[in-house]
Amino acid sequence: MKYTSEINRRKTFAIISHPDAGKTTLTEKFLLFGGAIQTAGAVKSNKIKKHATSDFMEIERQRGISVATSVMTFEYEGHLINLLDTPGHKDFAEDTFRTLTAVDSVVLVIDSVNGVEPQTRKLMEVIAMRKTPVIVFINKMDRDGKNRFDLMEEIENELKIQLHPMTVPINSGKDFKGVYDLHKKSLVLFSAGTKANDENVLEITDINDKILDAKIGEKDAKTLREDVELIDGVYGELNSEDYLSGNTAPVFFGSAVNNFGVKEMLDTFVRIAPTPRPRHTTTRDVLPEEEKFSGFIFKIHANLDPKHRDRIAFLRVCSGRFARHTYYNHVRLEKDMRFTNPYSFLARQKDVIEEAYPGDVVGLFDTGNFKIGDTLTEGEAFYFTGIPSFSPEIFKEVINKDPMKTKQLEKGLNQLTDEGVAQLFTQFGGNKKIIGCVGELQFEVIQYRLLQEYGASVQMNSLPFFKACWLTATDPKKLEDFTKYKQANIAEDKDGNVVYLAQSEWFLNTEISNNPDIAFHFTSEINKV
Ligand code: G4P
Repeated sequence: MKYTSEINRRKTFAIISHPDAGKTTLTEKFLLFGGAIQTAGAVKSNKIKKHATSDFMEIERQRGISVATSVMTFEYEGHLINLLDTPGHKDFAEDTFRTLTAVDSVVLVIDSVNGVEPQTRKLMEVIAMRKTPVIVFINKMDRDGKNRFDLMEEIENELKIQLHPMTVPINSGKDFKGVYDLHKKSLVLFSAGTKANDENVLEITDINDKILDAKIGEKDAKTLREDVELIDGVYGELNSEDYLSGNTAPVFFGSAVNNFGVKEMLDTFVRIAPTPRPRHTTTRDVLPEEEKFSGFIFKIHANLDPKHRDRIAFLRVCSGRFARHTYYNHVRLEKDMRFTNPYSFLARQKDVIEEAYPGDVVGLFDTGNFKIGDTLTEGEAFYFTGIPSFSPEIFKEVINKDPMKTKQLEKGLNQLTDEGVAQLFTQFGGNKKIIGCVGELQFEVIQYRLLQEYGASVQMNSLPFFKACWLTATDPKKLEDFTKYKQANIAEDKDGNVVYLAQSEWFLNTEISNNPDIAFHFTSEINKV
């Protein structure tokens, strides 16, 4: 229990949202509160601009910038907060999923006008799988959004999570007057462009106090009282255990751009959000307080700039203390490695660090030793679990245009897919190489990098598949028969797992119902127990 004080002051989380809901704006407000930046506008949007979707080099340039802001560390009221950035662009969804494996909680931003959007649904699936605690921030209350109760119902139904209102909004759009904080029993009056710490807060312990009518008018005071009564009756006090187990999500209403409602949320976040949690591995649960260091790689970023051809592997520290210049065991390669320049990411500036503790993220220079899910320990052999691979959505066959470069192509495909940007499949019974990605952009990136870095020239031919499902069966004979019979749709992933490539939802559902002895999985564990 050596490092308890370091562990207990850390909170590692990610802000997630559908693009444009306000993630960048909220991040900036958090950093302002944390004193990590001094002026608004200092956080450059990591958002990949819409117009650039066909220009992947431009996107890579922007991603290059975003590496520096991948983790933003700041202090707030004695807590050390690691905020992990997640790319909003759909084509980088895999990156976001992986980042979610490295955090202990998330803040989900929902646009009050648009409600639940597609990207949010998918992200919430990952969160639900891992039972990650969630705080919801309903943003843009200064715009004419949906009715507060309809919105909460929509979120509950769509995301299959129980909500617990922490603040109650008073109107929205141009009539937005502020929120009533149910926990602190105070009225927070809205004014556009609120600066840190100068919110107009009025303590109102008794909701029937006449001062409420004076402040927001009789009509709105009446509605607020009804809302508060209803919410108190239905929800009562927030049970933090329900939040920590991922069953209930506290909800805040606000306006990130106006810095409104942000402080209420941040104060609650530091009060209830989990400190670094124990992690499952292939052999046992690892507690953060354990004396020996362990951690895993959740993301690999390759720099496409030919002048700085380097890869950065992102390590999440799970137990003990990570120290610079110290040998650790790379479990998969059974090899001891030490790191001379591990760095942390402090307010957009890379700093070489001497040590790191559970919850921290360390950037390691990598020359091709790491792949997603790799585990570093002080010698014990286990892998961290709960790091999923998701089904790609677009599939292409890789055609080698230069037979002299077959070896290079093989190496390139293996290394690039280790970074987690794409998945590699080999068609059953043949040797057809198939690449699966979530976005078109990745194919361009892969084609470019195969040529630039490995000298391999390829053509990519589209395949008519829309999903890959990993297959298992208790009776191996059943699986064998199925794979023989469906050969054109069967492939192996890099680890030799059998995969069914479905042409359409209809084909998939038909196969699922015709083959009750075979389990079709939509995700695959990178490290299996
Ligand atoms: P993202 O990272 O989730 O993609 O969203 P981002 O913060 O970039 O916000 C998207 C747009 O929404 C931005 O406007 C931002 O100013 C605006 N926004 C954020 N919070 C609020 C809010 O509470 N109310 C209103 N009305 N707007 C909000 P933009 O025009 O796209 O960019 P910018 O030129 O303002 O930077």
